[in-house]
Amino acid sequence: MSEQSDLRETVRAGYAAAALKVSQGGTACCGSEAVEIDENFGSGLYGSDDREALPADAVAASLGCGNPTAVADLREGERVLDLGSGGGIDVLLSARRVGASGKAYGLDMTEEMLALALANKEKAGASNVEFLKGTIEAIPLPANTIDVVISNCVINLSVDKPAVFAEMFRVLTPGGRIGISDVVAEDHLSADQRAERGNYVGCIAGALSFSEYRQGLEAAGFTDVTVTSTHQVADGMHSAVVRATKPATADLLPLVETAGAAQGSSCCS
Ligand SMILES: C[S@@+](CC[C@H](N)C(=O)[O-])C[C@H]1O[C@@H](n2cnc3c(N)ncnc32)[C@H](O)[C@@H]1O
Repeated sequence: MSEQSDLRETVRAGYAAAALKVSQGGTACCGSEAVEIDENFGSGLYGSDDREALPADAVAASLGCGNPTAVADLREGERVLDLGSGGGIDVLLSARRVGASGKAYGLDMTEEMLALALANKEKAGASNVEFLKGTIEAIPLPANTIDVVISNCVINLSVDKPAVFAEMFRVLTPGGRIGISDVVAEDHLSADQRAERGNYVGCIAGALSFSEYRQGLEAAGFTDVTVTSTHQVADGMHSAVVRATKPATADLLPLVETAGAAQGSSCCS
């Protein structure tokens, strides 16, 4: 296996173990044996009204670093896609916000997380929800079909971040937007310094810097990009809110060219 596929398999195995822990009555967050993270992550980052509206297992499986459904300002009737949906907490919250005329998709590569998410969907009685198996680097949805892409502490785990940015751009409708929570490093930290602060599966070592995030999204074609810290999760490492828009005129641009621009960017390891 290549180094990249080795790393992706390590990520998958870590989150499979975390999902099984929740299925057996534990919580995925914090300081689990499966995924070593602390109180800066998980369901404590949601308001009590959000937590009380969901099945206990969806809350227990929360491994995020923010609340992207609040960031994305979701509206009735919108189609939302959650990248790396885990136990489904943000998909189920999105489904409530977009209502019966909208739809919430969750995408995850880990079978055990998808099983947990499907069980949580049943418990929540959500009918406007669909979970998809696949990777965020090759989203199994057609172009121009999603109004809002959200994600919670997942893009730092990707071994090919330019591909993720290009895929988000492809699936969004022109004028569509992203509302993401993710771990981001201060610009002065080298890759080695990021890795000293935490491991890859625990959402630290693979984090982009603020500049790399902005440049990566802009290279993929996004505009109005902002990356804003909400709280520090390790020395020089932050949980941040990332917002950006696919220009309304993006359907006039050749899709291959915009995706190619992201692939060729200097962004991201
Ligand atoms: C830190 S957890 C976050 C889960 C969820 N967003 C939450 O807030 O609880 C990361 C999730 O992303 C999934 N994941 C990681 N890398 C992925 C990739 N390249 N493609 C698809 N899913 C991925 C993992 O299986 C796991 O469920």
